[in-house]
Formats: sequence, structure tokens, C-alpha cells
Amino acid sequence: MDMVRRPDAMERITTTEQALAFIEEQVTAIRSQVGDGKVLLALSGGVDSSVVAAILIRAIGQQLVCVHVNHGLLRKGEPEQVIRVFRDEMKANLIYVDAVDRFLDKLAGVAEPEKKRHIIGEEFIDVFADEARKLEGIGFLAQGTIWPDILESEAGIKAHHNAGGLPEDIASRFELVEPVRILFKDEVRVVGKALGLPDSMVYRQPFPGPGLGVRCPGAITRDRLEAVRESDAILREEFEKNGLAGKVWQYFTVVPDFKSTGVKNGKRTFDWPCIIRAINTTDVMEVTVEHLPDQLIDHLVQRIIAEVPGINRVLYDFTPKPPATVEYE
Ligand code: XMP
Repeated sequence: MDMVRRPDAMERITTTEQALAFIEEQVTAIRSQVGDGKVLLALSGGVDSSVVAAILIRAIGQQLVCVHVNHGLLRKGEPEQVIRVFRDEMKANLIYVDAVDRFLDKLAGVAEPEKKRHIIGEEFIDVFADEARKLEGIGFLAQGTIWPDILESEAGIKAHHNAGGLPEDIASRFELVEPVRILFKDEVRVVGKALGLPDSMVYRQPFPGPGLGVRCPGAITRDRLEAVRESDAILREEFEKNGLAGKVWQYFTVVPDFKSTGVKNGKRTFDWPCIIRAINTTDVMEVTVEHLPDQLIDHLVQRIIAEVPGINRVLYDFTPKPPATVEYE
């Protein structure tokens, strides 16, 4: 496929009218590229893949096959939201793959951060490739590549994998469909909004590919992973309630792999701490810490201790980047 260039004179998409015009152009382009062929898409539920899915559903409906892989490291409610929005509401052809055991078994006992990331990345490709091999007659692969990916790839900063690093026997079968490749992230969000996607999808905070795996430092265990997922859900709920969700750039919890002594109902406990991290940035190279109101901190401590099994202490991370990174691994 020819490299699509972002036209130098292309106006930044900021309005619904511009977004709708862009969507119409892409719908026409996709129909002429794909004809009556079938398109495969790995749908994570992130902004880019969700917008790509919604454009393709509009363009070719049931000719799109979405695959949502649950690797067990997603946030609470995410797989359910993907199924609700795309299968139930948009009537997409969606294959849900429960790969939780497959991932967690592979990760069991692995404490080294880079090894964990590597396993999660490799396993994801394996699971997706397995699904792709099962499907007959698919000639196209859709990807949520955006313009900064192309620029970084050209500048040699980050390799932009064609076909997402899929093995050659799979990748060679597909022609790529990349309807948002000339857009910047803020434009993808405007287009997502115009497509009717929910705000919780369009404006969601960044979430790393290895998911909650990097917020469960050291060797992941199911019980500690659940503590991360439950505490993260409480934090997100409280940020929503307190009007902080759209204002703070990124916020999450981490449950490290050590225990300390506590006391509950007159009995000794020996449980994990839960660390809250809330940060602001424009470029993720330099990050400042969001200072939460004392009352909210007190409330978060109470809720997390009362509702999350295995936690007996809540800590707040006041470290900017540098010297700390945003994530713990
Ligand atoms: P760090 O920890 O490097 O994070 O300061 C900077 C930003 O990048 C996100 N992040 C990732 N995003 N895949 C992603 O898509 C990853 O492997 C990954 N690691 C970190 C992190 O959440 C933060 O927003």
C-alpha cells in the first residue's frame, strides 16, 4: 500500500463537522480499498483501535472481524465495556478471547520487568496469530497507527511494526488498512466523539500495553493482581466523582511485592501496601505530581483498606519524573 502522507496544508481536526467530513472520506476510501473483502482488527478498547473499529463498522459492517484479547491485565470492567459498546450497541462481529490463564501461567514466577514485558508482548502476538489462523478468507488487517507513530518510526525513535509484529505467514496474507494514520491523538479523540463512542473510551487516560502487569511489580500473583485491579477501580471511581478524571493526566495504583504489619479489629495483619500515583505532564518526559485534597486522600485510604483484600496500608507517591518514571516497571 502506498504511504499516505499527512497533507502539509491539512487543517487540524477540531470540530465535529471536520470530523464527520474526515469519517466520510475514510468510509469511501475503505470501501474502495476493501471491496467485499474481510478485515481483521485487534481491538483493545484503547482510543485508537476503538476509533478504527467504529469507522470500519460504518464503512463495511459485518465484513469487519474484531478480536478482543483479554490478557488478564486489563482494568476492571474493560472487557465488558468493549463487548457492550461494539458487540451489543454497534452490532460488530466481535470475537472475545479469554486468554487470562494463558498469560498468567506464562508470567508465573517471572519477576524481571523486561522479561515480563517481553512475555506479555510475545504472548499477545501468539494469541492474535492463533485467532487469525482460524479465520478463513480475510485479506486485510486494520491497525490504529497514528501520525506520531509514523514520525517516530521515520526518525528512528521507535520501530513501527507493520502488521504489529505478526509472524510472516500471517502478515504476508494481509494488506493494511490504517484509517487514522494521518491523525494526531487529539484529532483521533474528536473523530471518536463524532462517531458516538462513549467519553470513557474517547478521553481515557493513557494505559500501557502490558497493562496492570507493570503495576504489580515483581512476579505477578492472582491475588495481588486483583488488589491492583480493585484499588485502581476505587481510585478511578473517586476521581470521576470529584471531577478530577478529565483534569489529571494519569492516575493509578500499584501494589508492591512486600508486606508489613498492621492491626484490624484487634488482630495482627500482615498485608501489602497500596501506592497511589497521580501525575500531570504534557510530553511524559517530565512529570509533576498532582496534590490531592487531604479529605479525598483520607476517603481513599478508608475505602481501599475496607474494600480491597490483602491491603493494610495506603501510600502516596510524591516523586516527579525525573528521577522516577511514571510506571514502576
Ligand atoms: P514511563 O514509565 O516510561 O511512562 O515514565 C511514560 C508513559 O508511557 C506509558 N507507558 C507505556 N505505554 N506501552 C505503552 O503503550 C508500554 O509498554 C508503556 N510503558 C509505559 C505510561 O503509562 C506513561 O503514560
